[in-house]
Amino acid sequence: MGSSANSINCEGKMVTCGFIDSHTHPVFYNNRDNEYAMRLSGLTYQEIANNGGGILSSVEGVRNSSEEQLIKKVTERMDRFIASGTTTIEAKSGYGLDTKSELKSLEVIRKVNNSHSIDMIPTFMGAHAFPKEFESKRSEYVKLICNEMIPAVANQGIAIFNDVFCENGYFSVEESRYILETGKKYGLKARLHADEFSNSGAAILASEIDAFSADHLMAVSKDDITKLSNSKVVATLLPGTTFFLGKKTYAPARDILDEGITVALATDYNPGSSHIQSMPFIMTLACLHMGMTVEEAYQSATYNGAVALGIENNVGSIEIGKKADLIIWKLDTLMDIPYYVSNHPIDKIIKNGNIIFEA
Ligand code: NIG
Ligand code: FE
Repeated sequence: MGSSANSINCEGKMVTCGFIDSHTHPVFYNNRDNEYAMRLSGLTYQEIANNGGGILSSVEGVRNSSEEQLIKKVTERMDRFIASGTTTIEAKSGYGLDTKSELKSLEVIRKVNNSHSIDMIPTFMGAHAFPKEFESKRSEYVKLICNEMIPAVANQGIAIFNDVFCENGYFSVEESRYILETGKKYGLKARLHADEFSNSGAAILASEIDAFSADHLMAVSKDDITKLSNSKVVATLLPGTTFFLGKKTYAPARDILDEGITVALATDYNPGSSHIQSMPFIMTLACLHMGMTVEEAYQSATYNGAVALGIENNVGSIEIGKKADLIIWKLDTLMDIPYYVSNHPIDKIIKNGNIIFEA
């Protein structure tokens, strides 16, 4: 330490911790710009999903592509995450929806994690949607997840978390409970998509099963926020999804914060409901539309994201003993991050002590 090789002159520059993006779906093949165009002509996300779009329209792409093809796509995506300052990312499977394609998606995450400077935390999400072939026998798919996929995923040894889309038309509270409890028996930690479009009781489920995080919460009720506050569950808010879907009802961040709940912010990067990779832009949305202070938004985009992933002892803040994951900005104050909105002037990004991006 102290040698010139390890010294960088940051005079006049702000230094922050690298961003922790604790909710993303990066393992897909095709973009879905066609659905974006449909939304611009007035259709809602749910209407598009009910007409053959949505999650299911990404399934064929993943099933039909090779591991190498997916690795190339995911690597390019990770390059762009790094360029906007994200140094750790949670990454879900969930566009394969059969055992082979889910294992392939997790293997892609493992390989990119090994070859790329970004750190990836893998999540199994076989319960993202009901695949077409199980449309008329949904309970069979829940059995497949619990009796075949989860044991195979545990045996593969890559995934750390198990996530479920608990929502009307997707997985019910009882199905979600069964899937998440089964995952826990196999060592997979629980997190869930909760109360995204409707208040289904998913946030309560999160607190009952000690999930690490309840994500989205656009439609959570005041009562459920109070119940959530009696647990250690992190509320992960995804204002990029609200924005990208053209909705006005952002998650009630102030009510959630005022109950003392730990709030994380993430992009929800995926081809359908949030084609956004920039955590600085998510901070802009949090400050503008959810009433968060810039200090709250910064903490939620770094340390609290690490808490939501159970890795706060290693990353998420600038502290001796943690990884040196840093952003050197050509900016003066924290407020400049939401203020610039996009195209932030970043001088250097440092991952685990190494300069990996330089302007
Ligand atoms: O988090 N809510 C479920 N999954 C994604 C949407 C994924 C997609 O449309 O492909 C989400 O918003
Ligand atoms: Fe999501």
